[in-house]
Amino acid sequence: MALTPADGKATLSFSDGTPSLDLPLYKGSIGPDVIDIRALYGKTGKFTYDPGFLSTASCNSTITYIDGDKGELLYRGYPIQQLATQCDYLETCYLLLYGELPNASQKADFLGRVTSHTMVNEQMQFFLRGFRRDAHPMAVMTGLVGALSAFYPDSINLHDPAQREVSAIRLIAKMPTMVSMAYKYSVGQPYIYPRNELSYAGNFMRMMFATPCEDYKPNEVLVRAMDRIFILHADHEQNASTSTVRLCASSGTNPFAAIAAGVACLWGPAHGGANEACLNMLYDIQASGGVAKIGEFIAQVKDKNSNVKLMGFGHRVYKNYDPRAKLMRETCHEVLEALGLHDDPLFKLAMSLEKIALEDDYFVSRKLYPNVDYYSGIVQKAIGIPVPLFTAIFALARTVGWIAQLNEMIADAEYKIGRPRQLYVGSKHRDVKPIAKR
Ligand code: ACO
Repeated sequence: MALTPADGKATLSFSDGTPSLDLPLYKGSIGPDVIDIRALYGKTGKFTYDPGFLSTASCNSTITYIDGDKGELLYRGYPIQQLATQCDYLETCYLLLYGELPNASQKADFLGRVTSHTMVNEQMQFFLRGFRRDAHPMAVMTGLVGALSAFYPDSINLHDPAQREVSAIRLIAKMPTMVSMAYKYSVGQPYIYPRNELSYAGNFMRMMFATPCEDYKPNEVLVRAMDRIFILHADHEQNASTSTVRLCASSGTNPFAAIAAGVACLWGPAHGGANEACLNMLYDIQASGGVAKIGEFIAQVKDKNSNVKLMGFGHRVYKNYDPRAKLMRETCHEVLEALGLHDDPLFKLAMSLEKIALEDDYFVSRKLYPNVDYYSGIVQKAIGIPVPLFTAIFALARTVGWIAQLNEMIADAEYKIGRPRQLYVGSKHRDVKPIAKR
């Protein structure tokens, strides 16, 4: 996409005699301007240094916008609050993939395309059987998603838009089936086939909780909560897993392999694994004495030598309340109410911990607020999702965002293989000594 020049330019001056350099500035539709440093190395022989990409935009994008200071999240310009309360997940998928919300016939057509791909190749269950039953679901999901390229070789050409489209629909349609298969395998129950007359979230919950001897009638409040979890996790601009997908796909690998890379990245506790880690943290505090022990726990978090973090708090971009966390907190109330669990001790503990942290100078001064994972674990637990499956559900929901971002990258005329540079600080040139002299 042609970038819009901002007023002015950036001038880089050097104290080592290198001539100063004018660099173009570009403006986004909202958000900070960027300095285009692409000519820097060619003109000065120098790189920029930015571990963790704190000040580096790796791409231009039209998909998702976050204002971390305001605590605002937009998908294609629409506030997340509106999407989460007025649209369903498949409408959100359509929006992320194609740029606009669907009208009724576009929605029906999209639904038809997705539901015609909800089954997985029957052979996949034999592949799944190769895993240990106690394997972590994210270990299984990394394998299953990667294996899709072996099962669907007719949609692996990243550079063919038609094949990309089929692989996108396949991934969105099959993720719920694969996540529920991973779960059923872990508990030794038969797999439940998808039912296409159910909603996306309702079908997933039935595949999770029905058995051949007892059907599962999804509770509408819980289905809506699950759908909201999917919407809130659907995309989040250039986070670690999305950047992984883009970097992986930039080599021209197939879409299934690139999404499998995203699943692997998401697994980490600093990213998607935080919801599981957060719930485990709450259990630990509860086991050690509950609300009365919060002070002790917070003291540990503040002790830099303890390596203990308040999981579900803090975010690279949000320096204000994560808007998704607000919606998740509301959903948490609704679900616990619907299940008659409003006195749930874990939820009460989470609310007390949040309150104490938000009043503590350690968190206030560092602008650490709850992120989406703080309450999503409690909601999922109440719905009946086992804790180790939380991150797999995040992966299910984020798949559409990864695909939209991957498609955007491939369609960008400026797309190149991703290849960061480095500041080399290792040994200078030296010669290998014979082994006896080392
Ligand atoms: N608990 C305690 N201290 C924290 C926390 C936390 N959860 N998060 C950040 N800090 C502290 C850091 O120790 C650091 O303190 P210092 O300035 O005294 O050194 C300061 O706040 C800044 O934190 P950074 O680690 O530099 O922030 P960064 O942007 O690199 O990390 C991250 C963001 C990884 C999310 C971090 O806040 C964290 O680990 N949070 C807990 C895990 C979590 O909830 N992850 C989910 C993220 S949202 C998602 O993926 C859906």
